[in-house]
Amino acid sequence: MRIALITGASSGLGKEFAKQIPRLYKGLDELWAVARRTERLKKLEQESPIPVRIFDGDLNRDYIYERIGKELEKQSADIRMLVNAAGFGKMGKFEDIPLADQLSMVDLNCRGLTKMTGICLPYLSRGSRILNVASAAAFSPQPGFAVYAAGKAYVYRFSTALRTELVSRGIMVTAVCPGPVDTEFFQVSGELPGAFKSGFRKTAPEVVKTALRDAVRGRAVSVCGGSMKAARLGAKMVPEPLLAYLMGRANQIR
Ligand SMILES: NC(=O)c1ccc[n+]([C@@H]2O[C@H](COP(=O)([O-])OP(=O)(O)OC[C@H]3O[C@@H](n4cnc5c(N)ncnc54)[C@H](OP(=O)(O)O)[C@@H]3O)[C@@H](O)[C@H]2O)c1
Repeated sequence: MRIALITGASSGLGKEFAKQIPRLYKGLDELWAVARRTERLKKLEQESPIPVRIFDGDLNRDYIYERIGKELEKQSADIRMLVNAAGFGKMGKFEDIPLADQLSMVDLNCRGLTKMTGICLPYLSRGSRILNVASAAAFSPQPGFAVYAAGKAYVYRFSTALRTELVSRGIMVTAVCPGPVDTEFFQVSGELPGAFKSGFRKTAPEVVKTALRDAVRGRAVSVCGGSMKAARLGAKMVPEPLLAYLMGRANQIR
């Protein structure tokens, strides 16, 4: 059974991947959609042109991985595309955000993504693709968004390293690194400060279209839009302490 497995499929980028992937990849038998909100996934099922298998569960708990692992084995799944999109952020100074929230962010954004990748890897084969949703926040230290940005740097580095390891198996890995995108993300994270608020925002369809195009081309990193491409380049040229200072100013951290 040829499938695409998408985490975070109930909202934002994950939901948009669930929309665009069946249009792009003909011959998929099923879409496997993972998130906590069952009703949202049922709605996705009704709207999808191909059958959707729902995995409603919390990716910060072990049972969901066990369910998915068993089903992959039972169906002898051939994962053509794995999209790790589930994630969240919390803005503010480290000392002002409850430690439990910070750790939950690390668990989902880093541990969860790694675990899902590990469980799925035996079911990926030549021509399969992994898209790991990192962020442009991965490019620099971010006072005011410290744990989130550090976690996304992990996703970015993990993805580019894994890509090299998987070359011999013909499996492509792309780290998707968008700047701000109009999704429900900011309802959880809090609103962006100052210049980031409106200036650089993209829509989920734009970001996902770019990501899928880049994945098809076998690119290691997908960055949507000129301003975020410039930010990536700039971050490589500025010394780390200065970068942290500048990002702190941009995030209005004193
Ligand atoms: N929006 C942006 O500006 C932006 C920019 C760069 C990168 N990103 C990254 O893009 C990815 C998608 O975010 P988004 O913008 O699409 O935000 P979103 O609309 O809030 O979607 C987040 C998704 O993650 C799922 N999720 C959250 N916690 C979960 C948990 N414990 N278990 C299972 N699923 C969970 C949510 O589903 P349920 O609530 O139903 O569980 C939802 O489907 C994230 O990794 C985010 O860090 C976003």
